[in-house]
Amino acid sequence: MKIAVLPGDGIGTEIVAEAVKVLKALDLKFELETAPVGGAAYEAAGHPLPESTLSLAKSADAILFGAVGDWKYDKLDRPLRPEQAILGLRKALGLFANFRPAICYEQLTHASSLKPELVAGLDILIIRELTGDIYFGQPRGRRTAADGHFPGAEEAFDTMRYSRPEIERIARVAFEAARKRSKRVTSVDKANVLETFQLWKDVVTEVHQDYPDVALDHMYVDNAAMQLVKAPKAFDVIVTGNMFGDILSDEASMLTGSIGMLPSASLNDKKQGLYEPSHGSAPDIAGKGVANPLATILSAAMMLRFSLGQAEAADRIEAAVKKVLAQGLRTPDIYSEGTTKVGTVQMGDAVVNALR
Ligand code: IPM
Ligand code: MG
Repeated sequence: MKIAVLPGDGIGTEIVAEAVKVLKALDLKFELETAPVGGAAYEAAGHPLPESTLSLAKSADAILFGAVGDWKYDKLDRPLRPEQAILGLRKALGLFANFRPAICYEQLTHASSLKPELVAGLDILIIRELTGDIYFGQPRGRRTAADGHFPGAEEAFDTMRYSRPEIERIARVAFEAARKRSKRVTSVDKANVLETFQLWKDVVTEVHQDYPDVALDHMYVDNAAMQLVKAPKAFDVIVTGNMFGDILSDEASMLTGSIGMLPSASLNDKKQGLYEPSHGSAPDIAGKGVANPLATILSAAMMLRFSLGQAEAADRIEAAVKKVLAQGLRTPDIYSEGTTKVGTVQMGDAVVNALR
């Protein structure tokens, strides 16, 4: 089992180190190989996703990814910015299926900005299509407007597009995932305005015929954004496009109290996957030893389950995380009175001890 370890920028290196520590504490054999990515790779090799990092990622069974980005790179040309590394990996490896669970842990119910009764026991799964939509659609660019409200003015444009097979395959992923849960899928679209999402809705409805045991409903994205804060527990699996999924998954993360707790998985059709915390590189707290490593540790658990066929080890890690929370250990992002504040390394050590 070969794992490419790509820590990236900001808190990426600190949190990935803890996840690696947890992996090494399991009695499994892995080959771990580390490479720079994002701003770190730009500094080292002049490109956020150097050829050597990309080929390592391609050759691995799974990728453990930290985070990329720093304000100091905001002025670079777009192809050289750290974010291009993650977009490039998604595209090059065909990682079209992004799983973003939002689980509210019992001990953290009060960390949510929503009333505890709204989020207690919350367990939803957002499945975001990750290689299509307006993120990758061509053409895109800047030009002088030929028409519109201000002909002759500078304008910018992007292209939102989805093909039938792209929608079919992500719909199947969602229905299959729902079968292992409470068998409900909400497909989120904007079919009332956009052609792209009318096709989305039509295709999801067609694919649903193969999954009569799963309930399907459709919701416009604006309403979904509202329902997520009004009655989040009414959802089970949400399936949506790349951009809506980007926005809704950040919104959903806050229901759980801290984005520092949320893992994610991005898979291709060979079950090769990239595993990363849902949060970013947090340059403001980088190097201070206070970042929450649990999302990355939980991402390593997802990696064991989805790409490495080690479901039992994944269960063990997840149980260990619950145990450290029950012990009252908290990084600052999830700290509340009466609990014990710990740093990144102490939290990782506690998970390792809980595994034993
Ligand atoms: C995410 C991030 C990325 C995205 C950025 C960093 C390109 O926000 O993974 O949600 O927009 O997909
Ligand atoms: Mg995002």
